Amino acid sequence: MELLCFTRHCIKFMCKLLLFLLVLCLWIPREVVGRTGTTTISNSTDSYSRPSVLRIGALFTFNSVIGRSARPAIMAAIDDVNANTTILPGTKLEVILHDTNCSGFLGTVEALQLMENDVVVAIGPQSSGIAHIISHVVNELHVPLLSFGATDPSLSSLQHPYFIRTTQNDYFQMHAIADLVEYYRWSEVIAIFVDDDNGRNGVSALGDALAKKRAKISYKAAFTPGATKSDISDLLNGVNLMESRVYVLHVNPDSGLEIFSVAKKLGMMTSGYVWISSDWLPSVLDSLENVDTDSGVMNLLQGVITFRHHTPDTNLKKSFISRLKSLKDKDTKNFNSYALYAYDSVWLAAHALDVFLNEGGNTSFSSDPVLHNRNGSMLHLSSLRVSNGGQQFLQTILRTNFTGISGQIQFDMDKNLIHPAYDILNIGGFGSRRIGYWSNHSGLSVIAPEVLYQKPPNTSTSNQQLYSVIWPGETTKIPRGWVFPNNGKPLRIAVPNRVSYLEFVSKDKNPPGVKGYCIDVFEAAINLLPYPVPRQYILFGNGDTNPDYNDLAYQVSQNVSFKV
Ligand SMILES: *[C@@H]1O[C@H](CO)[C@@H](O)[C@H](O)[C@H]1NC(C)=O
Ligand SMILES: *[C@@H]1O[C@H](CO)[C@@H](O)[C@H](O)[C@H]1NC(C)=O
Ligand SMILES: *[C@@H]1O[C@H](CO)[C@@H](O)[C@H](O)[C@H]1NC(C)=O
Ligand SMILES: *[C@@H]1O[C@H](CO)[C@@H](O)[C@H](O)[C@H]1NC(C)=O
Ligand SMILES: *[C@@H]1O[C@H](CO)[C@@H](O)[C@H](O)[C@H]1NC(C)=O
Ligand SMILES: *[C@@H]1O[C@H](CO)[C@@H](O)[C@H](O)[C@H]1NC(C)=O
Ligand SMILES: *[C@@H]1O[C@H](CO)[C@@H](O)[C@H](O)[C@H]1NC(C)=O
Ligand SMILES: *[C@@H]1O[C@H](CO)[C@@H](O)[C@H](O)[C@H]1NC(C)=O
Ligand SMILES: *[C@@H]1O[C@H](CO)[C@@H](O)[C@H](O)[C@H]1NC(C)=O
Repeated sequence: MELLCFTRHCIKFMCKLLLFLLVLCLWIPREVVGRTGTTTISNSTDSYSRPSVLRIGALFTFNSVIGRSARPAIMAAIDDVNANTTILPGTKLEVILHDTNCSGFLGTVEALQLMENDVVVAIGPQSSGIAHIISHVVNELHVPLLSFGATDPSLSSLQHPYFIRTTQNDYFQMHAIADLVEYYRWSEVIAIFVDDDNGRNGVSALGDALAKKRAKISYKAAFTPGATKSDISDLLNGVNLMESRVYVLHVNPDSGLEIFSVAKKLGMMTSGYVWISSDWLPSVLDSLENVDTDSGVMNLLQGVITFRHHTPDTNLKKSFISRLKSLKDKDTKNFNSYALYAYDSVWLAAHALDVFLNEGGNTSFSSDPVLHNRNGSMLHLSSLRVSNGGQQFLQTILRTNFTGISGQIQFDMDKNLIHPAYDILNIGGFGSRRIGYWSNHSGLSVIAPEVLYQKPPNTSTSNQQLYSVIWPGETTKIPRGWVFPNNGKPLRIAVPNRVSYLEFVSKDKNPPGVKGYCIDVFEAAINLLPYPVPRQYILFGNGDTNPDYNDLAYQVSQNVSFKV
């Protein structure tokens, strides 16, 4: 899931600008950040000290679909942890919020400023692009980064040891989409995505997932972040001329609805079309003020299939949601799944810190020799300090196991949250209907994943099941998924220009230019097909002698273009 974040243009200038801004940010000597004090808790036999305050950093774009949901959730979690007497007794968590404001560049600067505060753990960012850059910072400073929003599959690589994803990895979502494509027996899809880290890497994972199912992405339609309506219109007009009618839409929650409004105008939300959306769409819908009355939005989306992060319907989750909804704040009326992941991220940090401190973990910071020796530089990089216990703390986080409001929080060997699962929704009327679930455990199923986890995994094709879908154009008939493209080349059929046995096949003065028994049979077969097949007969041979069939077959195989 993604925010509209930075343009290519911006990336190009980032390196230069970064240096410049760092000077501005760090040049003015700062007061040394206040050291945290310690409290001593006496054991009957022993006494040990715990820091009285620990700082947690939070980094995301406040004014965004994800940020508006996440912010109150993070604040609520901090309050809950501090109010709880069994977790982190004697230690108060303090959160330092920084706004990345939808910019890769600003995000990086904000991250560096955040790190000057000696935070033991950072929460965010929601954007995969920013996460890529910040990962280098947290790796250097040994500060674990708990990202509740960056779903980009490429982020889990070994290159980013301090990056921990507290939401689902899009790797699984792309496998879910591939399973759906296989379930409906489509073989080609067109991927429409934003040309940023999240879009590209997600679509690349989709390509791999489809390849395992012997399907493929026939075309990758990328548009730049911040594309105008007319750019989108051009792009959709282009894909509309192609063969595939199955579109997978992997874009940003902050701009995605625009695509549907253009598609609707172009008549691409009618029968025969298939639209599959990744989880950005429910994130938008869940955070809309009044979906019921906002029928304008729902009108655009009739028949769309969309994936949503699956979180079990526990009492914990229900009471959390009703609590957040009761907040008077106008901005925070509705929530999407990222609120749950953000809330659990804070609790994950708290649980892990508790264990870490119990095990005598070191929460002090010391200067980084790499940064300290930058002689001649005006950047006050030495204000960035390395967390001494960071490495041990990272391991503590990775083996933390607790039940949060988004479900079981536990990591597998690949640092992914266990039990990746999605709800599959079909949008119709004023809302959406769940047509089933996808889980890594059993693929597509109408049974909730929590129930399936009790049974052995079964991803066999015969075990895949979904409820029926109402497709665009109000039809329940499964779309074929492709058409003969309007502007496509007709099927070219080479016909021997024979001089004997003319009853079988021969040249004809009238259209289509050939006649005979073979042509009649072929035409009859074509007419049985439920769709039109544009075709063109091409005579082969000089008309004086019967052409050589071996020669004909050879030339077809060599893609020789025959004269009409
Ligand atoms: C304090 O006491 C508890 C329980 O008696 C024990 O588990 C813990 O290790 C003690 N802490 C230290 C620092 O010895
Ligand atoms: C405090 O946190 C623990 C561990 O998560 C939990 O079991 C307990 O219910 C919490 N207590 C309160 C009062 O919320
Ligand atoms: C965020 O960026 C927008 C546009 O780039 C700007 O108008 C706005 O003032 C910024 N907000 C903050 C809090 O920096
Ligand atoms: C924490 O680590 C630093 C550097 O390794 C060390 O100087 C300091 O004494 C340690 N603090 C504690 C309480 O172990
Ligand atoms: C940095 O400069 C100081 C004095 O200007 C010098 O003593 C020191 O060796 C320099 N360090 C490096 C790493 O160049
Ligand atoms: C994690 O906790 C759950 C229940 O809280 C338990 O069933 C599971 O076995 C635990 N996993 C590990 C690896 O300890
Ligand atoms: C997903 O399923 C595969 C194969 O069944 C398994 O190897 C992998 O560990 C699972 N991943 C998670 C995160 O459950
Ligand atoms: C998986 O499910 C299918 C259909 O429900 C069943 O026929 C098959 O035996 C199951 N396989 C396993 C290994 O349980
Ligand atoms: C075959 O030839 C046609 C026209 O001569 C050309 O458009 C097409 O790309 C060729 N196909 C291959 C596979 O070379």
